Amino acid sequence: MDAGQEPNGVWSTLVRRQTPQVEAFACREYLEGSAILRLPDDRLPSLEELESVITPRTGWRLRRTPIRYSDALPWYRHFGRKTFLVTDYMRSWHELDFTPEPDMFHDIFGHLPFLVLPRYAALLDLFAQPFLRTDDQHRQHIKRLAWFTTEFGLLREAGRLKVFGAGLLSSVGEMRHVMDGRTPILPFSIHNVLTRTKAIYTFNETLFAFDSLAALASELRAYFDSVPTAARPEIPAGAGGETALEDWELADLAGGPPAVR
Ligand SMILES: [Fe+2]
Repeated sequence: MDAGQEPNGVWSTLVRRQTPQVEAFACREYLEGSAILRLPDDRLPSLEELESVITPRTGWRLRRTPIRYSDALPWYRHFGRKTFLVTDYMRSWHELDFTPEPDMFHDIFGHLPFLVLPRYAALLDLFAQPFLRTDDQHRQHIKRLAWFTTEFGLLREAGRLKVFGAGLLSSVGEMRHVMDGRTPILPFSIHNVLTRTKAIYTFNETLFAFDSLAALASELRAYFDSVPTAARPEIPAGAGGETALEDWELADLAGGPPAVR
């Protein structure tokens, strides 16, 4: 069956498969946020109903994007305005275990439970300003730090490894792979992360664990404070930069409010 015609079916299947794993392995913050957001397991929630829980708690808003994998520059510009982009795309039935592109299941199930927590929103708030003010080399570093923390980070709670990153929380296959001990885990440090390459089209070869949200935030803040301010911040090559942002903003305005699913 084409998932494009049946996104609610794919969503329900994924939520029901992933919930027991998440209950066993997700970090405290995710479980706490999940209990507040209460995602339905029988249909895709609308952005409006999600915002009605998220925005009063943290000020973050949601916006639907037709772009399958948003460029970093518009992504962080929206981040700087506390707007989280939710893709309009849902994986197909044969990609249930793993999809290299973020889809609605990843964006909603993986990320949004965290967004009801002010202490998590404060962590996200650290990323946008240094990204927007710095040069391309440091933008690459910031993207990598985001990848290995908010997307694929692990957290040690009372000595036990827990899943923090939305990319793992929304990947039935990779989460199982990691929690089965098949992925080497290093302590999180800026140095350890910036000297490793990241995987997009396969499972990550190495992941990183930190001891608390506060410890992660303080390490990131120290690094971000050291990031230079570019005289004239570069538009990353091939990113589409300003044009992509303007097109996207115009398309968004022309489209009116996000579609309700
Ligand atoms: Fe993500």
